[in-house]
Amino acid sequence: MHPIRDRGFNHATPSEITPQAVYEQRRQFLKTIATGAAGSVLATWAARDARAAFTGHGQYPKLASVPSTLPSANAMDKVTDYQDATTYNNFYEFGTDKSDPFATAGRMKTRPWTVTVEGNVAKPQTFDIEQLMKLAPLEERLYRLRCVEGWSMVIPWIGFSLSEVIKRVQPTGNAKYVEFVTLADPKQMPFVGSRVLDWPYVEGLRMDEALHPLTMLVFGMYGEVLPNQNGAPLRLAVPWKYGFKSGKSLVKIRFVEQQPRTAWQKSAAEEYGFYSNVNPNVDHPRWSQATERRIGEGGLFAKKRPTLMFNGYEPQVGQLYAGMDLKKNY
Ligand code: MTE
Repeated sequence: MHPIRDRGFNHATPSEITPQAVYEQRRQFLKTIATGAAGSVLATWAARDARAAFTGHGQYPKLASVPSTLPSANAMDKVTDYQDATTYNNFYEFGTDKSDPFATAGRMKTRPWTVTVEGNVAKPQTFDIEQLMKLAPLEERLYRLRCVEGWSMVIPWIGFSLSEVIKRVQPTGNAKYVEFVTLADPKQMPFVGSRVLDWPYVEGLRMDEALHPLTMLVFGMYGEVLPNQNGAPLRLAVPWKYGFKSGKSLVKIRFVEQQPRTAWQKSAAEEYGFYSNVNPNVDHPRWSQATERRIGEGGLFAKKRPTLMFNGYEPQVGQLYAGMDLKKNY
């Protein structure tokens, strides 16, 4: 992304992150999810508390329970290795290299943490993160993540639909859009204050997009609490849009009448539009969006995959954009 320099893969070995045996066990398990029988496997998994096998690492505690699942990547989508998903990140508050967030986000304090939900709603509320996490049953969902830069991953997120929060605060008729504001604390985030972006990192969705069941509030991944570099303690996942629409480390959710101006629009409006739906037919002004590099598939020289319309979620979300000119509304 502008003005990013892509240094490629971080070379930390899995054992630096989690003990090798645990890592291999988890990998095997996640491969099973990816091959298709996810529902039944997860059901027995939950029942037997097979999650205990993932002793995990002290830093990222396991989530207490994940009672249901909604896999939505298909058998062609192998789950991205945990190591890649947690060491190859975009989180500009911590730097613009892919390995910066892994190296420096650990210092961010994620407790106590509150999220204020306000604006055009009948019941504005400030939630403590622990309270927010209990608002609805946590689910594991396997989503594709397509970055606007042309790479992608497949990640098992843990959380629930954003609509669970929306229905509790009761938006009024004036709530046409939702604005997401993320933490911008220069004491904890070395790049906040730099000119890389106009901080805080702000993103937005149209109300019907925010209410769509696929739009997910995320508290964890790979059976564990979110690592800081992936947006702890709370981020968004909007799987049919480019990854930058999914703000990390959310502190405010605001219901507004006007379309929010996002951090990336302020930086380069002609490159990063408000909608930013994954679309192989609408190129970024500086590169094609027709194909993507799946992280973990053979490195920089691997054959690229074709990018799918709405990242493969067209059956679920296509109708949200019926009649819209997607070239104009990029
Ligand atoms: N959220 C914040 N606060 N700051 C960021 O720089 N980067 C975005 C998005 N959310 C970003 C952010 C981009 S460009 C992408 S592709 C995804 O986070 C990356 O998520 P991941 O690192 O968990 O894969």
